[in-house]
Amino acid sequence: MTGSSSAIRGTFFDFVDDPWKHVGHEQRAARFERDGLMVIKDGKVADFGAFEAVSKRNAGVAVTHVKDRLILPGFIDGHIHFPQVRVLGAYGSQLLDWLQTWIFPEEKKYADRDYAKAAAGKFFDAMLAGGTTTCQAFTTSSPVSTEELFDEATRRGARIITGLTGIDRFAPDDYVISPKDFYRETRRLIETYHRKGRNLYAITPRFAVGCTEEMMDSCKKLKEEFPDCWINTHISENPSEIRAARDHYPDCADYTQVHEKHGLLGPKFTAGHGVWLSNDEMRRFAKAGAAVSFCPLSNLFLGSGLFRIGRATDPEARVRLSLGSDMGGGNAFSLIRVLGEAYKVGLCNNTMLDGSVNPREMDAAEAERNKLGPYRAYYMATLGGAHSLYIDDIVGNFDIGKEADFVVLDWNAGQHAMRWHQSLITTEVPKTMDEAAALLFGIMACGDDRNIDETWLAGRRAYTKTSAGAA
Ligand code: GUN
Ligand code: ZN
Repeated sequence: MTGSSSAIRGTFFDFVDDPWKHVGHEQRAARFERDGLMVIKDGKVADFGAFEAVSKRNAGVAVTHVKDRLILPGFIDGHIHFPQVRVLGAYGSQLLDWLQTWIFPEEKKYADRDYAKAAAGKFFDAMLAGGTTTCQAFTTSSPVSTEELFDEATRRGARIITGLTGIDRFAPDDYVISPKDFYRETRRLIETYHRKGRNLYAITPRFAVGCTEEMMDSCKKLKEEFPDCWINTHISENPSEIRAARDHYPDCADYTQVHEKHGLLGPKFTAGHGVWLSNDEMRRFAKAGAAVSFCPLSNLFLGSGLFRIGRATDPEARVRLSLGSDMGGGNAFSLIRVLGEAYKVGLCNNTMLDGSVNPREMDAAEAERNKLGPYRAYYMATLGGAHSLYIDDIVGNFDIGKEADFVVLDWNAGQHAMRWHQSLITTEVPKTMDEAAALLFGIMACGDDRNIDETWLAGRRAYTKTSAGAA
């Protein structure tokens, strides 16, 4: 069945290429329509471009005019934990203790359907309020949590990649799942949910510390049987975690080899964090077409370390990158907040590259790639994230045929000082792409959820700031 068309008129900003390919000329990767029109039909972009031209081609289409705002593709969160909604911001120590103290006791509750269902509602409310329209999410070891997340995503009309989360050690006995049960339940869930509506399935071994060889073998078998599915996991987040992984897999030379050995490293594979990946591991990721989800808010909150973004974007071995909130390891849902931290991580990397740690390792080109200006930043949050997840044919920018997921940004909202701060750049609708990019940098440096006015999913308004409940 085909519906009628509608259209959004406003100021659009999106990407058509990777800005890291255009060092010094990042604008070449972006697209800016000061007075643009996006025509939407059946939830997809049917036409897009300058208002003058597109409106002529689409006479009679009902137009919603969004004034004094920037419209960007919906944000893509490559790494988030659905069952951690209630424990974000938990005070404590580093990863392994934090998991035992806060996370597993909370995630256990998601075997209860009512609890999981209520949480799924809160999860989407918070994500949409942050401007996120697509996520790759962890659930728990209970199939109930995975079902409830897929069902809520379906009700909302959001694109999601998720799956039952496999963990058979390093967690309480009443939380782990056996490799056999994981295999059986994953098969059932794939058959129920994968490619139904906007749902995509990720085979999800939680991390090597929590997955025995048998669990990893189950994942290997599942990937062989369902090669169209995604793989979602964690890698090299925290030094104690890495030592534990090495102890568990003494036959593997490094953490990446655990995934290579089980046939998982390749396209549609994402590992969160990768803070401590060696240069050689990054090269193997790049060669395999595997992705890292960069989670700076979490990496700082849990004290995990500084992801080497300049190294991961080496043109000789470019690793596909998404941004991840890693909520609740990250203490917010907002990818705007994540971008603010990502920028700081890039600069901190440079302090070290500039000589404070080992001057012989200084690499000027890498130091330049660490700099997260607005083009690189918002690319990662949109088209870059989509590319890393192998969904850039369906979301990520306003190309005709893509799903019409987008966010409406108010560059003056947020902190009390925001309007005054942004007025240094302009007090009206930005006239040029660089002016728009400067406002976007102002948002990521000083903003948060309050800068998201509206979030649209497949051409339908799914969140409006003024109507947001506080419950
Ligand atoms: N590694 C394994 N499980 C988790 C988790 O829930 N959060 C983070 N940040 N790292 C993990
Ligand atoms: Zn995580």
